[in-house]
Formats: sequence, structure tokens, C-alpha cells
Amino acid sequence: MRRSAALVVALAACTVAPPDTIATNEVAPPPPTIAATTTTAPVVGVDGAPGLGDRMFPELGNAGYDVLTYDIDLTFDAGLAELEGNVIIEAEATVALRSFTVDLVGYTVTSVRVDGGESAFARGPRDLRITPPDVIPSGEIFTVAVSYHGLPAPVNLTDFAFPTGWQRGRGGSLFLFSEPDGASGVFPANDHPSDRADVFLTVRVPEPHVVVSGGEAAAVRFEGGLGVHSFEIPSVAPYLVPLAIGDFTPIETPDGVVTWMGGDAPLPEGFERQAEILSAFEEDLGPYPFGQSGAVVLDSDLPAALETQTLSTYTTVSAAWGTFVIAHELAHQWFGNEISLGQWDDIWLNEGFATFMTWRWVERDAGRDAYESQVRGAWEAVSVPGVPPPDHPSGQDLFNVSVYQRGGLALAALREFVGDAEFFSFLRSYVAAFAGETVTTESFLIFVLVVLGPQAEDLVTDWVRSEDLPAYPLG
Ligand code: ARG
Ligand code: ZN
Repeated sequence: MRRSAALVVALAACTVAPPDTIATNEVAPPPPTIAATTTTAPVVGVDGAPGLGDRMFPELGNAGYDVLTYDIDLTFDAGLAELEGNVIIEAEATVALRSFTVDLVGYTVTSVRVDGGESAFARGPRDLRITPPDVIPSGEIFTVAVSYHGLPAPVNLTDFAFPTGWQRGRGGSLFLFSEPDGASGVFPANDHPSDRADVFLTVRVPEPHVVVSGGEAAAVRFEGGLGVHSFEIPSVAPYLVPLAIGDFTPIETPDGVVTWMGGDAPLPEGFERQAEILSAFEEDLGPYPFGQSGAVVLDSDLPAALETQTLSTYTTVSAAWGTFVIAHELAHQWFGNEISLGQWDDIWLNEGFATFMTWRWVERDAGRDAYESQVRGAWEAVSVPGVPPPDHPSGQDLFNVSVYQRGGLALAALREFVGDAEFFSFLRSYVAAFAGETVTTESFLIFVLVVLGPQAEDLVTDWVRSEDLPAYPLG
């Protein structure tokens, strides 16, 4: 309803707004201090905002709470055409909440309970707004149980270049490729990299389907005619939860690394070297951050791979890129997975580092000349007109050439400037300092300044922010 101008003027003239004009999403004013009293003001609570204000994807994530665990239970039919989901989120309120949202795209929601109490809910294209029977006090740990069912379909809600979340492989297999916003199409989530949580995943499928995920897998059980596959993945961002369902065969190399191959495909070349690549990276970066490491290769022609936590996801097309792509995804386990992005447009901190570490792998595998030719190739790729600097790509251009190549060059240039001993010790300190935390370009640059000094910080700033491409960094 529109208020008349006269009323607005009249209200503006009041020094104290009458109580009924206090917006319902504001915290109540403090009680008057005149009378000493033991009664406390009632907790009013806010309606948590339906996004975290990410610069590139403002609607992703949800304000007002921090997720601690997701207990995700998905049941599929024989055709993998329909799923029933029961998810329990345990979260801590960061403000008093009268209502809040979770990201969830698609599906029919049948029930929502907060701390066991039947709760009202309303759907938006991206969010499920939940109003519990009582306000959740700030600091309180609460549970949200959501039951839903429907089609496992990809998410296509932004200008981002391709659909995310559920993908279909050849032969009807299902798998996740959720970066950046596809987890919202799989389970109710605080779908932003800055909110990592422990995931307990259970997937129930009729035989002979196999379920592949990451973390620690429990032995498969059978219940009600379904195979029950359970996994525990500690401290993971929603988009990094690995999942593939269909026909897979595990191939274990003598060093104990398992690659799950879709159909009967043989192990692609390079996949027998995963442990070797990991050890090479541990020398540069310090210990691998997780308890497991493996791979799944889908029978699919999606031309991409994803660093899903502890179990990277490849396709028939991307697996053929061999150790280049394996090194890239394994490097992400440190850069992207153990150190999380604070904002999506800080993405060069993931992709530039993974690209640099791939060159480093090439150097260890094939020598310094091979490294230099990678650096040369990257510099040529970004020295054409119109390539922006890698920091804060515009629009939803998350994976542009600059993010990967000029981002990688920033590190190659820094290495050249400070020398190997200082550079790799800096990388290890960065990993140690930001492990389990989120990073932004700003906080990374401050870290460079503190550890390596102002000239190093200027140099990295130029590489990641200046419109002009700095000179070729090697010799
Ligand atoms: N983080 C992924 C990588 O390893 C990016 C995947 C891009 N996705 C795509 N469908 N092209 O580089
Ligand atoms: Zn990458």
C-alpha cells in the first residue's frame, strides 16, 4: 500500500515513530532505562536476507546463520528419474531469526521442521523461506529438517554460461558438477563457498546402481531392497560435494589410489600417477589436507573437470587431458577446497594457483624448459587485446582465460622475483595460515605484503589488477 505524501511528512515530523511504523524486520529498540527492572525485552528476530551479497552471485547463500552439518539422505528410483530427499541441517544462528532462507531449486517440498516443530515455508526460484514456530535466538544451534521430492535437474538461474548441479552421463548415469551454484539443485544448502560444513551423505539406490562420493565411505548395506551408500565428508563447501550414480568400476593402482570408471572403460593415461603428483605437491605445499584422494571418470562429453573434495570428477573428454588436468584438480584440493573463496569473483585465487601448480608439475615431470614453455604459452594467451586482469572478472565470467593464465602468471612472476626458496616457503605459509579459512584478493595481498614486503605486493597487484599486462616474467 502507498502512503500519502501528507502522511509521510507527518511521520517525518514525529521525533519518535509510533510503534506500528517500526518495520517488522528491525530489532526492537532497547527498553527505556528509567525503571530498574528484571524483565528483558522480547526477542523480535529478523527475517534473514536470502543472499550473502556475493559480488558476482548476490542471491547465493543465506544470511543469519552458519551451517555446521548437513545430513543428506537421497533415495532414487531404478531409472534415476526421481529422487526423494530428507535433509537435516544443523546450524548456528548469528542473529535472532524470525525467519530465514535455505537455497533450494526445483522439487516439491512436503515438510519443514525447525527443532522438530512444524514450520511454515514459502518457495522462491532460488530459496525456501522458513518461518519456525518460535524466534531462534542469536547464538543458538538449531536443526532444520526438509523433506522434498522431484526430478534431479540442473540449475539454470543465472547468466552463468552452463547449467550446474545434476548432469546426465551416457547410459543414464547421474553426477554432480555444481560450481558455482548447482548444490542448490541437490539439497537445501547455504550454497556459498564461504560456509563449509561437515556432510553426512546417504544415497539409496536399487541395484545394480553404484554410488561414488568422497570422504570416508561406509560398507554398503541393503535395506528395503535398496543399496545404502554412506559417506562422511568433513568441512566441505556445498559445490564441492562429489556424487556420481550409475555403473562404475573401481580401478585401484598399486599405490592404493582408486579411480571409479564409468562403464567398462579402462584407466585413462596419467591416472596411474595421482599419488606421484600428490607427493610432488606435498613437497611444495605441505601435507595434503584431506584423509582420502581418488577420482571418478564419467562417460560423458562434458568438456570439463571439477575438484570435488577428495574425489575429483572427470569426464571421458577431460580425462583425456592426462596429468595436466589431474595436477590441476589435485592442486585445487589445497587452493579452493582447503582454502575457500570469500567471494566468487576472487576465483583467480583458485584457478590461478591450480594453473601455476600444473606448470610446476610439468617442471618436475619434464624439466625447467617445459615449465618455461607453459609460462610462455600462458603469457601469449593473455597478451592479446581485450583480456582483462584476473581479479574481479565482470558479469558472470567466472572461468575466463585471464583468471587461469594471468592468475598463474602472477605466481610465476612472484617466484621469479623472490627466488625459489622464499617463494615455496611463502606458499607453505599461505596454506598454513589460511587452511580452513576463506580468502579474498585483499587478504591475500596483505599476506604477500606482510611476508614478502611491499615490492612483492606491488608486483602481484599489477599482475592481478592492472589493466596493462606486465612484461613477460621469465628472463
Ligand atoms: N574449477 C573447475 C576447474 O577445475 C572449473 C570447471 C569449469 N566448468 C565448466 N563446465 N567448464 O577448472
Ligand atoms: Zn580449476
